[in-house]
Amino acid sequence: MVDGKTHPTVGFVGAGNMAEALISGMRAADWPPERIWVTNRSNRTRLDWLRARYGVQTTQDKKELCGASQVLVLAVKPKDVPEATDQLRPLVRPGHRLLSVVAGLTLASLERAFPGTPVVRAMPNTPSAVREGVTAYALGRWAGQEDARLAQEVFGSVGAVVEVPEERIDLVTGLSGSGPAYVFFLVESLIEAGVRSGLPPEVARDLVVQTVFGAARMLRETGEDPAELRRRVTSPGGTTMAGVGALEERGVRGAFLEAVQRAARRARELAS
Ligand SMILES: NC(=O)c1ccc[n+]([C@@H]2O[C@H](COP(=O)([O-])OP(=O)(O)OC[C@H]3O[C@@H](n4cnc5c(N)ncnc54)[C@H](OP(=O)(O)O)[C@@H]3O)[C@@H](O)[C@H]2O)c1
Repeated sequence: MVDGKTHPTVGFVGAGNMAEALISGMRAADWPPERIWVTNRSNRTRLDWLRARYGVQTTQDKKELCGASQVLVLAVKPKDVPEATDQLRPLVRPGHRLLSVVAGLTLASLERAFPGTPVVRAMPNTPSAVREGVTAYALGRWAGQEDARLAQEVFGSVGAVVEVPEERIDLVTGLSGSGPAYVFFLVESLIEAGVRSGLPPEVARDLVVQTVFGAARMLRETGEDPAELRRRVTSPGGTTMAGVGALEERGVRGAFLEAVQRAARRARELAS
């Protein structure tokens, strides 16, 4: 509750996967459905579905959405930003706040499009869809503590939230934005290793998924250093030491460093 009394009305411009993840989290966190508005470009069926599923307000008229909302969430694909900002520019008024989840769209571009408007640039990740996301956000020059609280409330409904200076957002994109894909890659690789070594695929999958889930929960719930948790399951000359030795020999640590840095570089190249 940003002003300490009531939830502001939030209008989503874009009704795709990311908008739905946030809407579903906000509803689960008891954000009143009459204070959530959604619009898209043309897909009426999608809006009807969101209204039926979450009880939110939908419209194909951006004027109606902007008139009803105090906070606008820009959730369109990067290629659709010029059209969406052209449509929104005449409708954004003093008092509006803007949260953008568009990858690569800088605060400077947003502030050029909406002069004087408090703007927040956020980078959520896909586990937001199951309320286990993590979002990093950066505040624009006209944004203040109220906007930080708003970002924490909206993105906090779908996971953890951290504030970073904008120059770190590309790095966050390479780490936690692309991070779920690295974990899926790890899971794929472990399942394949289990299957190639003789386990039935469904058994290998169950073992690996629960192992990754359990290890992540241990990290979060104990707050322990991952190196320390690893040390505790690694006895000298034992099985884990043999396995981890293979990862070290094959340079897996260096591969992760390169993955994060390359993804961050790509995010910088794609920024607008
Ligand atoms: N998905 C993720 O994990 C993730 C993570 C971090 C950041 N993001 C960012 O989130 C943004 C949205 O991603 P997404 O996966 O949700 O995309 P998506 O599923 O393709 O949805 C895009 C939405 O934008 C709407 N749209 C396009 N042009 C519009 C316009 N002029 N006015 C109003 N709505 C318009 C589309 O409507 P129609 O269907 O009617 O065309 C659609 O509802 C992207 O910029 C992405 O970088 C996504």
